[in-house]
Amino acid sequence: MTQLTFATESNPSPVSAADREAILADPGFGNHFTDHMVSVVWRKDSGWGDARVHPFGPIQISPAAAVLHYAQEVFEGMKAYRHEDGSVWTFRPDKNAARMARSCSRLALPELPEADFVESLRQIVTTDKAWVPAYGTGETSLYLRPFMFASESFLGVRPAHEVTYSVIASPAGAYFSGGLKPITLWVSQHFARAGQGGTGAAKTGGNYASSLAGQLEGIAQGCDQAVFLDSATQTYIEELGGMNLFFVMKDGRLRTPELTGSILEGVTRDSILELAKDLDLQPEEGRIALQEWKDGVASGEITEVFACGTAAVITPVGELRWEGGSVPSTAGEGGGEVTKRIRERLLDIQYGRAEDTRGWMTRL
Ligand code: COI
Repeated sequence: MTQLTFATESNPSPVSAADREAILADPGFGNHFTDHMVSVVWRKDSGWGDARVHPFGPIQISPAAAVLHYAQEVFEGMKAYRHEDGSVWTFRPDKNAARMARSCSRLALPELPEADFVESLRQIVTTDKAWVPAYGTGETSLYLRPFMFASESFLGVRPAHEVTYSVIASPAGAYFSGGLKPITLWVSQHFARAGQGGTGAAKTGGNYASSLAGQLEGIAQGCDQAVFLDSATQTYIEELGGMNLFFVMKDGRLRTPELTGSILEGVTRDSILELAKDLDLQPEEGRIALQEWKDGVASGEITEVFACGTAAVITPVGELRWEGGSVPSTAGEGGGEVTKRIRERLLDIQYGRAEDTRGWMTRL
């Protein structure tokens, strides 16, 4: 299959250099967007085409667009990192392309070839390179959000015959404003995020929508995030909705819930399992019961807990609460030592400070 060729329409009124610098000095997360975006359209009879880089702005779709009614949508989350020599890189784009293809297959959307996916990232980052934060400005990056949705105007329930793929970019600082302050988790027992045979492993908006009620319940209880259990038995820990979980064990194991089909296959999760070996930790995937969290902290067997994801990187987890109980924090003020070591190792690779022995970085 021949690769897509992108036409470019420059933004006639980009954000001024002064305003851009002010945004880059304190971007927060998800608040600001670059001057351009990418769009590609798929039509059932002709496949992918109309690849464009164009000014960032509202998308015109019919009120009958299938995505608005039946949620046929998938997305990805990635980052572009500025290295010390000024070059810009992204992390394991092949993994995101493959995951998006799996999400597309689950949501009955067409797959975008990996080469076109990576080229779409290169197009937006090259066009809006000035928006990639400077090296050495902490944990800042340009967050990339590829997404695909059913843009066909049609109210029958079937896979759409017209689909739009886009990429937007947003300068990003830390996902949690408290930095390395441990987050408090709430066990969502009334609301499940995903079930067996459902879409839990796909990166689709519906999973995030269904996590919000549990999240709100947690916030009402003074927590930062909700943790979801397996919906069938409410016994085993799954994930946070937007992040995977890890447990540092006293005996050197680094445990994370296994991929059961209802957990998102995090790229950061997978990378940590690999990096653990460099740090003399034994990675272990398996079922982890909520009871093991309680017992492990009480006995001292669990020494640290952290959450991970592209946006949040690695965030220490503090106290765990649920209706009628809690597990105290093992994290101290700024997270445990192992959590901090894994985090540094990952960030050093992403920002080009450590040798990329696994070929994870791709220059954009
Ligand atoms: C990411 O980590 O990139 C995600 O898509 C999760 C979301 C909570 C921002």
